[in-house]
Amino acid sequence: MCSSRLLALGLWLIAASASAAPAWQALGKPLAADEIASWDIDVRPDGVGLPPGHGSVEEGQVVYDTHCASCHGTFGESTDYLALAGGVGSLGTATPQRTVGSKLDYATTLWDYINRAMPFNRSKALSVNEVYAVTAYVLNLNDILPADAVLDERSLPQVEMPNRRGFTQTHGMMRTDGKPDVRNATCMKDCLKTPPQVSSALPAGFAHQLYGELSPHFRQFVVAAPAAVAPTPAALAASNGCLACHAAQQTRVGPAFADVARRYAAVADAPAQLRQKVRAGGSGVWGSALMPPQTTVTDAALDQILGWILAGAAAP
Ligand code: HEC
Ligand code: HEC
Repeated sequence: MCSSRLLALGLWLIAASASAAPAWQALGKPLAADEIASWDIDVRPDGVGLPPGHGSVEEGQVVYDTHCASCHGTFGESTDYLALAGGVGSLGTATPQRTVGSKLDYATTLWDYINRAMPFNRSKALSVNEVYAVTAYVLNLNDILPADAVLDERSLPQVEMPNRRGFTQTHGMMRTDGKPDVRNATCMKDCLKTPPQVSSALPAGFAHQLYGELSPHFRQFVVAAPAAVAPTPAALAASNGCLACHAAQQTRVGPAFADVARRYAAVADAPAQLRQKVRAGGSGVWGSALMPPQTTVTDAALDQILGWILAGAAAP
């Protein structure tokens, strides 16, 4: 076909498609700027995305003591959840201590994280100014800001984090030279004579175990198939967030459910007692860590979960 006929065919196709608007063009509606803005929440290292606002270290201490200290410790030192202070300069040593003070390269990341996710049990509850203030206080706990510092959308991006230049792209997962990040001899035959050993390099006891038994978390997706299978108590514990802090057999932030079963084995009104405790939250029975009030789990789901816990929390 000569090129002018090809061109003519192309024009005909354009003309034909213009005459009847395709169905998809009638779908949806253009988004208004304020609708886009509600999704456009990221905050960048240079401060783009930060809302106007301000807060001082002093104001931040009040916010911190009220909303954060119960989990992160009075001076950000608690390892029940995560330490927020300390470890500056320790990353290259044999005992690296990773905190937001020691590891982050930009202070805006700290603001963004707190703004999106903290307090853990009531995220998005802080005002913009409170987030500036508590960010300033956490930086002060890390000796990065002086006690009289005030942060706003202009000064926060100027804060120089100690690990600003500590990030590297020269390790396996981040090669930038186009080469694959695995090194292996090519194998075309009998390659699995020795089964591969899969292992985790995270330090045992901390991050390695932090989220406990993960299989019930996966289960909900598998079970959620159209067959409308009633979720198991373990799946209910997962979907209601209990397994963020508890595991069936191991102590995490909260006690192992099997230990709860042992402790309450001889207590006649254990279900009622524990229902009230889980609803109200609290600490002191198992240690100093705090269980936030569990307000979103339904009565029916909570009864099922507690029945499962008190029966020993066996794997389903
Ligand atoms: C109920 C307990 C709880 C409360 C209250 C709480 N946090 Fe957290 N915080 C956590 C947990 C748990 C994590 C880890 C979350 C994860 O890894 O998914 C965390 C993580 C963080 C991190 C990230 C730490 C890191 O090393 O990456 C910051 C920063 C933080 N919290 C700040 C705050 C601030 C500020 C407040 C108060 C406004 C607060 N938290 C209140 C439990 C809590
Ligand atoms: C943010 C962490 C966290 C979450 C989420 C959480 N717990 Fe707890 N839980 C704890 C801690 C910490 C304790 C220990 C409290 C104490 O020592 O009094 C605890 C204690 C308990 C106990 C024993 C109470 C007692 O007085 O002996 C039960 C039962 C329990 N949790 C069930 C649940 C259930 C069910 C859920 C989900 C609906 C849940 N927890 C969610 C942290 C958590």
